[in-house]
Amino acid sequence: MNISVVSSKVFAAIALAILLYGFIVPSVGFHGTLERIKDGEIDHIPSYVYPLWNFYQKGRYIGVSTPKEARLNLKKMVKTSEEIGAASFPVWSFSLEAPNYPKEAFPRGLPVFIHFDGLSGEVHEMNTINHYVGMAPMERGGPYERALAPYSLIMLALLLVSFILYDNKWINRLMVLPILLPFLFIGIYFYWLYWFGHNLHMGAIKIEPFMPVILGDGKVAQFTTHAYPAIGFWLLAAISLFSFFAWWLKRRGTKEQPTKRVMLMNHLLMVAVLLMGVGGYVYLVKIDREVDTLGKIADIIEKFKVKVPLEAKVPEPSKMEKEAIRNEMAEQRKDQELKLKALEKRVGRVTKFKVSALYKNSCSPCHGASGEGNIGSRLAGLSKDDVLKKMLDYKKNEETMHIAVIEHMSDDDLQKLAQEISEFKLEGRK
Ligand code: HEC
Repeated sequence: MNISVVSSKVFAAIALAILLYGFIVPSVGFHGTLERIKDGEIDHIPSYVYPLWNFYQKGRYIGVSTPKEARLNLKKMVKTSEEIGAASFPVWSFSLEAPNYPKEAFPRGLPVFIHFDGLSGEVHEMNTINHYVGMAPMERGGPYERALAPYSLIMLALLLVSFILYDNKWINRLMVLPILLPFLFIGIYFYWLYWFGHNLHMGAIKIEPFMPVILGDGKVAQFTTHAYPAIGFWLLAAISLFSFFAWWLKRRGTKEQPTKRVMLMNHLLMVAVLLMGVGGYVYLVKIDREVDTLGKIADIIEKFKVKVPLEAKVPEPSKMEKEAIRNEMAEQRKDQELKLKALEKRVGRVTKFKVSALYKNSCSPCHGASGEGNIGSRLAGLSKDDVLKKMLDYKKNEETMHIAVIEHMSDDDLQKLAQEISEFKLEGRK
């Protein structure tokens, strides 16, 4: 065999190894686990998933509210209901900076990571902000792409194996797929960013449809955003480069046919690999049926199908619906209070965090972390009666700026908020 054909196979093998290590092993191994955790079917999670996930978390971003003992330990993370992300290498990262995420507590801003097969980072918190500006939650993005990612990756691995075993010009041409892999990812990512920026519903803050920044820094409402490739992207770039060299070298190689014995060996190897591929597919399908992933995705899409035009008047919910929404918000708030507590423990006493979750979630994006003012006016210094009167006014008159955030608050909530705001200190003022 010709030296360039041999090296072409070596390059393809390197590309295959990166693909297996960085993407296939973690995404196939972890497939369906998050759905099982969400459904409370912890017992159905195979035991190898735990060490696998823990292994792949080394050096990754750890959520701000994750307690020390639970880091790199999926079992504990599940037990304490921490936010758990995908296991494969993240390909792109996106982060936000805002006054209500002070550097002391959020040294990297509020980051989320986009994987082939899922998300990780502060997804829950990011969704809260998305909700403010009228954006759909991140899970709405690329649902089928994510669910099918492990299947497609196995297909790609089979292609690389057949490239190594056979010198066939059609297989050679198909090498365009691994070569284009990083561009394919960017293309899909770009599409979904566009979708998110142009399918806004009515949020607390009204923004015009826009194209989120795909690379570099941008600004959305009062948030500074940063978007950059993550380690997985460089792995994809390496796969692309090695595949390109493999393709190019093989084209230069001679058309010598290997001996019959070598061919037989290759056939046997290919059959073994194909069986493994089929095994992988069966495994994925079995898990998907158990957790019904595609059904869930269809649900998510259904939920966000109605595209509410900007400034659309949302129909008045009935008394019972209002009650249900209020309960749900109280539930969410409890969750937030717990998170804040964990955060305080971690960063020590950061005065900025001594606000209620109600204020932090509903008012701080506009009025600042402690009422110092931002888009909204300065609240620190107002008396309880001032605030309460304004709020009741806003509620009665359905004033557009505030109605979305306060319509589900009870008068008791408003009382508490007004009390809290009246106690804000006027920093740097007499
Ligand atoms: C979408 C951004 C936004 C959010 C969210 C928001 N506000 Fe405001 N708020 C403003 C802006 C802008 C003003 C000033 C313009 C005006 O008076 O209508 C304002 C004015 C006020 C005022 C009157 C201040 C004064 O000096 O008279 C009060 C009180 C107030 N907001 C309380 C709240 C409270 C409490 C919350 C949380 C429940 C809240 N706001 C949430 C944007 C916001």
